[in-house]
Amino acid sequence: MQDSFATRLVAWQKQHGRHDLPWQVSDPYRVWLSEIMLQQTQVTAVLEYYARFLLRFPDVASLAAASVDEVLALWSGLGYYSRARNLHKAAVMVMDEFGGHFPVQREALQRLPGVGRSTAAAIAAFAFGQRETILDGNVKRVLTRCFGIAGFPGEKAVEKQLWALAEALLPADSSQMTAYTQGLMDLGATVCGRKPACTVCPMVDGCVAARQGRTHELPTPRPK
Ligand code: ADE
Repeated sequence: MQDSFATRLVAWQKQHGRHDLPWQVSDPYRVWLSEIMLQQTQVTAVLEYYARFLLRFPDVASLAAASVDEVLALWSGLGYYSRARNLHKAAVMVMDEFGGHFPVQREALQRLPGVGRSTAAAIAAFAFGQRETILDGNVKRVLTRCFGIAGFPGEKAVEKQLWALAEALLPADSSQMTAYTQGLMDLGATVCGRKPACTVCPMVDGCVAARQGRTHELPTPRPK
């Protein structure tokens, strides 16, 4: 399974994944903005805000030059307003510390306020084709089931194991990083959800949880 995971996922994404999302572009500004909006908000809710935001702030320079109050006004209704404050701070940082260009390396992207390891990896993969892995709640669900990993994924040791596994699964060929990363998101969002659709899953014949009838108990819930 480990050896064929990326190949299967990329093939599945190309045939069955989402291809019509407005942030499926290589402009790092647009990718970054979408990833911040999508951190705590569903795709359907983000779409309208994303379009409006880009009309007013088409690039990082225009965002950095705005007042934080105007950014907050455009964010109004999306919730988790620290995201908007961090967004403005990060835009100023890209202008002042990176000469107006988003850094290419995942580690450098992580220096931007509001950008953690998984968000940095998404930007690095989508915008720059870097071999960096995302690991959000959806991906944790896919991996714990597929590879039969028990233990609460929020626990440090389990999380460390999941990062290592996710890194080992990356496709060898970086030209597949966009389809692969989108495939991880799409599989978690459309197939391997709370009620998994195992009959249409490209991983089912290698999935530990499906084989053992344990999809309902993985990922392990937070201990009480
Ligand atoms: N959730 C987080 N990032 C996403 C993306 N790029 N596409 C769809 N859903 C997402």
